[in-house]
Amino acid sequence: MSDPANTTNLNAPLQNLEEWEDFLKERYPKPPAGSPFQATDPNKKPEQFRNYEATARPTVREFYRLNHRHQTFDFVRSKKREFLSLDRRKMSIWEALEFLNTLVDDSDPDTDLSQLEHLLQTAEQIRRDGHPRWFILTGLIHDLGKILCLFGEPQWAVVGDTFPVGCAWSDKIVFHEFFADNPDSREPKYQTRLGVYEERAGLDRVHLSWGHDEYLYHVVKDYLPEEGLYMIRYHSFYPGHREGAYTHLMNDHDKALFDSVRAFNPYDLYTKSHQRPSVKELRPFYEDLIAEYFPAQLRW
Ligand SMILES: [Fe+2]
Repeated sequence: MSDPANTTNLNAPLQNLEEWEDFLKERYPKPPAGSPFQATDPNKKPEQFRNYEATARPTVREFYRLNHRHQTFDFVRSKKREFLSLDRRKMSIWEALEFLNTLVDDSDPDTDLSQLEHLLQTAEQIRRDGHPRWFILTGLIHDLGKILCLFGEPQWAVVGDTFPVGCAWSDKIVFHEFFADNPDSREPKYQTRLGVYEERAGLDRVHLSWGHDEYLYHVVKDYLPEEGLYMIRYHSFYPGHREGAYTHLMNDHDKALFDSVRAFNPYDLYTKSHQRPSVKELRPFYEDLIAEYFPAQLRW
C-alpha cells in the first residue's frame, strides 16, 4: 500500500526548487568583482566536487539520489512520449509565466521572490548589459518548463543538472556514486563511452536526462534564434557547459553554439537578488517583446 506522506517526500525532497539552484551557486561561485567569468576551470580538482557533495544539505543529497536512480534511458524516452505531443494546454507566454507563478513551495513569501520575479531579474540584467532582444526574451522564459511541476511531475524529473542517458556517465557529474542504483548501470550497452550513440553524433541525437530544459525547447523551438534555443535546451547541462564533458558526442555546430550557452550561464546563476522587480512597470516592455517573437498562443 502506498503511503501518501512518503509519496510526497519522494516527489519533493527539496523544500523548494531554489535549493537546487543554491547548490549550483555553491559549486560554481560567482567570480570576484573585476575577474572575468570563466565557464570551465582547467585547474579544478576532483576533490573539490567531492567536498561540495559532503557538505550538501540532506534534502539536496536526497534529490540527487532520486534523480540519478530514476533517470534511465527508458524513462527519458517515455517522458518525451508523454509530454512532447504538447497537448496539455494552449497558453500565451505571459499566461505561462503567470501559471508558473502559482507554483508555491515552502519558500518564505516575505523574503523570497516569485518565479516570475526571478525571471524578470534575469531578463533585466541581460537587458542592462545591452544584449539583443531575443537574448532578453530567452532570459525571461528560460525556466518556463518548470510548469512540469504543476502537471504533477516529481522535482527530480523537472530540475537538476542534466546529463546524457544511454551511455557511460561522466565522472564530472555531481553525486556520481548514486548512479550505482540506476538500472542502466546493469545494461552493458549503456555503459560504454559512446553507448547507443555515434562519435560526434550531435546533441540533437542524444537523449539528455528529462527536465524543464528539453520540455521548453520543444514548446518554443520554432520561434527563437538558434543561440536562444541552445541556451534554453542546455542551460542545466552543467557536465557539458561547465565541466567540458561529453565533447565526443558533440559536433562542431554544438561546440560553436555552446559559446551562447556559456554566455547565458552567469545570468542564470548570479542575477537573483532580493530586490523585487516591478511586474506592473515591466510588463508592457515584455508583452511587446513576447509579441515580436511568439504567436498569441502556444501549445504546452
Ligand atoms: Fe533552469
